[in-house]
Parts: sequence; structure tokens; C-alpha cells
Amino acid sequence: MEQDFWQARWRENRIGFHEDAPNTLLTRHFPKLGLHAGQSVFVPLCGKALDLDWLCGQGLQVSGIEFNQGAVEEAFARQRLEPEMIRQGDLIRFQAGGLTLFAGDFFALTAEHLGTVDTVYDRAALVAVKPEDRKAYAVQLNRITGCAQQFLVGFDYDQSLMDGPPFSVPGETVQALYRERHAITLIEERAADGRIGERCNALEQAWLLKPLD
Ligand SMILES: C[S@@+](CC[C@H](N)C(=O)[O-])C[C@H]1O[C@@H](n2cnc3c(N)ncnc32)[C@H](O)[C@@H]1O
Repeated sequence: MEQDFWQARWRENRIGFHEDAPNTLLTRHFPKLGLHAGQSVFVPLCGKALDLDWLCGQGLQVSGIEFNQGAVEEAFARQRLEPEMIRQGDLIRFQAGGLTLFAGDFFALTAEHLGTVDTVYDRAALVAVKPEDRKAYAVQLNRITGCAQQFLVGFDYDQSLMDGPPFSVPGETVQALYRERHAITLIEERAADGRIGERCNALEQAWLLKPLD
């Protein structure tokens, strides 16, 4: 089961996806999102990414969801926040300051849980989802965020060179998943670093998805 796979990765500290600084595609291109303090960003499959702290530091209301409760707790502890915890069905909602994180399954999250979402920030989330579940992921993401604009950071590489996750999600796939509701622009692509860069010359790509009128 998908959840067991990810919980084992966390338990065994096999979290090579976790970056030790905020993602520089996010920090460099953030002004293109046109967000101002007080607006809201949703981070699906957020892990304990330092991007959460960085987004909070911009004065945004940040929400996210992650299977692993320890990762959620660590994201609060790192910011010296003591969250209120409330069980909501199969999810646990942690909230303090401008940060609200849900521990549980992304597919159990609803628009009511999230409230208004001005922007989605997907880094290593879509690429973490099995190819056969991508369509359901994109439909659920659009449903719970009202097709909000999205900053999407993923990978493009030859899938025959490596098994995912992270899976390769080339531009055609991004288009196929989102073009019905969004105008899609490639903002930057660069050589990926780490194992995926060394093994398969992967490109790390940043996409901006603007809702169609
Ligand atoms: C590749 S990691 C990326 C984490 C984070 N976005 C980052 O940049 O560090 C994917 C994360 O999604 C979580 N995850 C995978 N499927 C999930 C689901 N259906 N619901 C909630 N979390 C999920 C995993 O536990 C893992 O922490």
C-alpha cells in the first residue's frame, strides 16, 4: 500500500528528497506568483520541506498535507511553534501561527478542510505519485483548491534509466493533466542535482499554471 511505502521511507530515514534549504526555483520565481502577505498557499505532499518555513516567512498562510505525522511535528518544532491538534475524521489538523498542516492522506482532504487557496506549490509531489494515480491526483488537487494557480516543480528524465519515485513527468504529461483548466508556462529548467542528476541527466523543471477564465 502507498502509505506503507512512504511511512517506511520516513522510518528508515530514506528521505533523499528532503532539501537542506528552500528550493531555489521557488525563491527565485516567487515574485511571478503575485502573492502578498496574508494570502494562502497549499503545499500537497509537503514532507517537512524547508519551503514551508520560507513561505511562512513571506507572511503567507501556509497549509499542507503529509502522511507522516513525525514530519508534520518537526515542521512546527523547527519554527518553535506549538500547534493545536484536532482530529478531523481520518486526518489530524495541526495549526499554529500561519501554518496549518494535516497529517493523513491527501485523497481524504476536502475544500472545506482547506478554505481559500490562492496558490498551490507542488515540489516533488506530482512526481512522487504513481503514474496510474496521477490523473486522480490532479483532479483532487483542482477540486480542493478551486483550480488555483500553481507553481509546479518536477523532473523530466528517461524513465527507462531509473525506477521512480521520483517519476519523470515530462511537459506533455503536465499539459495533459492540467491544460483543461490552466494555461501552462515553463518558467525554468536546469540540470537536477543529486542521485537523479547523476544517474539519468534529469532536468528539474518549474511550471507556472494560471487558471483559465
Ligand atoms: C518526494 S516526497 C516530497 C516531500 C516534499 N514536498 C519535499 O519537497 O521535501 C513525497 C511526500 O509525500 C508524502 N505522500 C505521498 N503520498 C501521500 C498521500 N497520498 N497523502 C499524504 N502524503 C503523501 C510522502 O510521505 C512524502 O513525504
